[in-house]
Amino acid sequence: MSRYLLGIDQGTTSSRAILLNPQGQIVDMVQQEFPQHYPQSGWVEHCPEDLWLSILYCCTTLLSRHKLSGKDIIGLGISNQRETTLVWDKETGEPVYNAIVWQDRRTAAYCQQLSEDDPKLEQRLQAKTGLLLDPYFCASKIHWILKHVSGAREKASQGRLLFGTVETYLLWKLTGGERHCTDASNASRTLLFDIHTQQWDEELLVLFDIPRSILPEVCDNAADFGCTRPELLGEPVPVLAMAGDQQAALIGQCCFESGMAKSTYGTGCFLMLNTGKQALQSQNRLLTTVAYRLKGEVTYALEGSIFMAGATIQWLRDGLKLIQQAGESEALAKEADIDHGVLLVPAFTGLGAPYWDPDARGAILGLTRDTGIREIVSAGLQAVCYQSKDLQKSMQADGVRPTDWRVDGGMVANDWLMQFLADMLGANVRRSSIAETTALGVAYLAGLQAGVFKSLEQIATLWQQDKLFTPKMAKAERDRLYASWQQGVKRIQTRD
Ligand code: G3P
Repeated sequence: MSRYLLGIDQGTTSSRAILLNPQGQIVDMVQQEFPQHYPQSGWVEHCPEDLWLSILYCCTTLLSRHKLSGKDIIGLGISNQRETTLVWDKETGEPVYNAIVWQDRRTAAYCQQLSEDDPKLEQRLQAKTGLLLDPYFCASKIHWILKHVSGAREKASQGRLLFGTVETYLLWKLTGGERHCTDASNASRTLLFDIHTQQWDEELLVLFDIPRSILPEVCDNAADFGCTRPELLGEPVPVLAMAGDQQAALIGQCCFESGMAKSTYGTGCFLMLNTGKQALQSQNRLLTTVAYRLKGEVTYALEGSIFMAGATIQWLRDGLKLIQQAGESEALAKEADIDHGVLLVPAFTGLGAPYWDPDARGAILGLTRDTGIREIVSAGLQAVCYQSKDLQKSMQADGVRPTDWRVDGGMVANDWLMQFLADMLGANVRRSSIAETTALGVAYLAGLQAGVFKSLEQIATLWQQDKLFTPKMAKAERDRLYASWQQGVKRIQTRD
């Protein structure tokens, strides 16, 4: 009987699991959404139990649908929404607070205070961690939990608490509390990890007042992470890989050579460019991050993170109820003029790269009496492309130019959006034939660890293009549209 690899993708709005055969083909996928919690303006939380139960549901449904059990699984990999922060009691297993989601802005004032206290701090942070001083990352979120949750600081000093991003928490649960580990890609998103020495950084732990005892061990992306408890999947299954979801997507897109880039259009949009062995420090407010670490060898990436992509269309659907399904946005955008004059600046949770303005809030500009649903929907889609253009400009200013863009994520099924993206970038956009690149990437890594795949070169032969979008828009029109976006952003920015 064939044996399979299992790839888990614990994302921001849903969890998924895929079954991959040893030939590298996806056999099936199960997905489950879970609730979002917005306790206050700018706050975003997940219930840890929802994350745990949703991945169990996806895995067990997948296995039972194919009449498989744990013994049919060679190994599994976990990819996850990054930066989302959990702290739990290792004796009771109970989280002391909900998971604080990467989009959450509650620590904006604290970050601002740190930067006013020490104007050189951000430079030092960037030099060590590759990141910037922003509430996006874990450090200020852990600080908040230890400060505001009753009894947490005391328990932490007694060595009772553990911190983890989502993959660490899931691994701890899957192994029945035996393994408290993260991987280098997730560690590189905490603002506590020196990406050059590959160590937790003492100065940063002191700065954010975080005891070292709560931190997980940092492992390679493909490693022996222990086995799942036998009762969960029928038999113990080895956990062989972990990676942050965007890094997993880079691997799923087979961007293994320096200069190759992928852009994932999910809840947010994350452009990642492989820079090889070089940790390129951005002068233009992009992030330097660990792409993957294999056998102790680190490959770095330059990343641009946009907080709202698919989430904007979700808001048009669920918040404004302008559309019933995300797929309707394509037909509506086709009906509108490209140059309709409406701008939607989706700073719902502040602005990410390259602006890093946590206090900015969204706006719809340029409304006239003839503005209708189609113009607003079109503006929501165009905003995703304008923000991608912002990232491209920053990368070019840092001296790197992706050879072409491999795109994936739920939104890329929209041909109109992909064409407008190619037009705005003035670059080729290649849609991968596989949409589930995140779960695929981490399943590839598990396969690498198990010896199913011999090398990244072998995995690279599995990549297939679905469709190529080439730029068709005249440069003058592109420049004019993009200039109006830049003016729109200026109107809502709270800092330079
Ligand atoms: O950095 C946040 C990112 O990892 C979230 O990804 O796919 O859940 O929007 P996604």
